[in-house]
Amino acid sequence: MKVSSSLITPEKVFKNRRKFIKQLGIASSSLYFSSGIFGKSLASTNLTDYDYITTYNNYYEFGTGKSDPSKYSKDFISDPWSITIDGEVDKKITLSMEDIYKLFPSEERVYRLRCVEGWSMVIPWLGFPLNKLLNKVTPNSKAKYIKFESILDPEQMRGQRYPILNWPYKEGLRIDEAMHPLTILVTGLYGKALPNQNGSPIRLMVPWKYGFKSAKAIVRISFVEKMPISSWMKASPREYGFYSNVNPNVDHPRWSQATERVIGEGVLSPRVPTLMFNGYEKDVAHLYKDMDLRKYY
Ligand code: MTE
Repeated sequence: MKVSSSLITPEKVFKNRRKFIKQLGIASSSLYFSSGIFGKSLASTNLTDYDYITTYNNYYEFGTGKSDPSKYSKDFISDPWSITIDGEVDKKITLSMEDIYKLFPSEERVYRLRCVEGWSMVIPWLGFPLNKLLNKVTPNSKAKYIKFESILDPEQMRGQRYPILNWPYKEGLRIDEAMHPLTILVTGLYGKALPNQNGSPIRLMVPWKYGFKSAKAIVRISFVEKMPISSWMKASPREYGFYSNVNPNVDHPRWSQATERVIGEGVLSPRVPTLMFNGYEKDVAHLYKDMDLRKYY
């Protein structure tokens, strides 16, 4: 559902954003919020400040501390860059970022990012539906899942010199999840190019799943037959499942998922309730109608 941005955006931010977008020459933009979160007075419908979005990050390739990505990704070179789409397809393709910018114009989508650690931010992303890119290839009958691979570059990424995770960072979706119109590839935020610490030049964003599903700095997208084992599943399958849909009723083995801390609201502000599928229940619940969501976390 598209809504008037003034409903949820502080006016100053809204005006600044229009300015950014005008500068970039983006013709039309839309704020995208699932109807699910309206009517509930959640603080987390306010846009998170740019400074928080770009200094409080998870990006283990640059270190495990929240401020490591902004500190240690400053010199990361992400140009030239290309993405290969391969696997169970008739003909694999490779597209440069220039091709991608030309083929898939950006639109603005305001989504909440809910991290599995129990915090959230509301971010005005710039991007385009992943399905547009996937439709450039023809999968064969074996294809059931999509596997995403981030870049492997230990010279530029100090965290990759240590076996913290199974590098390169890997993630996966079922094909229907990947084709869902809410699933986007992100190339910017707040009307600007995507900062290195947020996954420049291109990252995934699946708003109804915990943030770790949204892999950064993607170089390869493969159609595959078997459920991909993500880096986090490999690290701790009990804690990080393949589906990882946001679900306030299923706790992480080490903490509750019922509530979340809204980043930027101050340490004293109360935690707010976490919403089923992060507020996108109406849009995505049908994808899981035959599954016991307590089992498939
Ligand atoms: N992608 C890669 N390649 N490496 C990572 O460590 N962290 C994930 C996800 N994507 C991560 C990643 C996690 S845990 C979260 S919560 C989000 O990125 C954080 O995105 P942000 O830093 O833009 O808020």
